[in-house]
Amino acid sequence: LNAKQTYLITGASSGIGYAYALQRASKNTHFILLARRQARLENLQQQLLEQGSSADIFTIDMSNLESVEALAKKLAQQYTNINELFLNAGMSLGHGKMETSTQDFNYLFRVNFLSNHTLLTPLLKSIPEHGSVVFISSLASLITMPSSIAYSSSKRAINAYAEGLRYSLLDKKIDVVNILPGFITTELTDKNDFSMPFLLPIDKAIKRIIKAVDTKAENYLFPKRFALLIILLNWLPRSIRNWYIKRVYQKRVTQT
Ligand SMILES: NC(=O)c1ccc[n+]([C@@H]2O[C@H](COP(=O)([O-])OP(=O)(O)OC[C@H]3O[C@@H](n4cnc5c(N)ncnc54)[C@H](OP(=O)(O)O)[C@@H]3O)[C@@H](O)[C@H]2O)c1
Repeated sequence: LNAKQTYLITGASSGIGYAYALQRASKNTHFILLARRQARLENLQQQLLEQGSSADIFTIDMSNLESVEALAKKLAQQYTNINELFLNAGMSLGHGKMETSTQDFNYLFRVNFLSNHTLLTPLLKSIPEHGSVVFISSLASLITMPSSIAYSSSKRAINAYAEGLRYSLLDKKIDVVNILPGFITTELTDKNDFSMPFLLPIDKAIKRIIKAVDTKAENYLFPKRFALLIILLNWLPRSIRNWYIKRVYQKRVTQT
């Protein structure tokens, strides 16, 4: 008999978080779902119930770190066994923007990065041995376009954080999985009006994410060909790399 698995998912109201919960659903799963849009969370909760799972929902704005901390403390008291923290909530700032205001930069960092630390710190004690913390970073953390400095920086910060957390949790036998996806069809990418290479349908992407989480991959980069292209690009001589980035960037700016 399989023991009940509890998943806490941030950004559960749409896209990757929503689809991940649905694909994980079974009668042995319980979900703790977080996001701002309550109606969406209720909709997901209903669908999960129909699949034999149970789910609790919590509305939270991740940009408000005080609220995140208060919720995290409440959750840590309420749940003593959370097998997986799926830290997925995130936003981008529109790739056409040439400059990001300090205020926008700060907001994005709170949502994409700082909220993860704030949420997980009180909750670490609720994760049992062989439990996991999953981060949703991005291939954009490996290359920073002039139009997405804030977004790429926040995702690169996640990579560094995940690495350190992984080492710090070795003795507790808690795994840290860092997922670096390319473009996936969600509300986030619906806003992009430039062409997105190797764009993956959500269902395909979730299957790959589940496989990476189940095999406890440390850093999972996908789609593979896109990841390879970015890695190769970073190895190119500076003059060729500069020429290529300029070309892609100009195309992007004229498209948006
Ligand atoms: N789609 C891609 O191509 C792609 C590629 C690489 C990485 N990612 C990453 O994947 C993650 C999920 O994105 P997605 O593509 O699934 O986009 P999405 O459909 O827009 O989902 C974003 C989720 O984050 C939540 N969120 C955003 N701002 C929030 C806030 N201030 N407070 C609380 N929750 C907030 C949203 O919920 P509410 O609006 O209801 O609050 C929503 O559930 C993000 O971290 C994104 O950076 C996406």
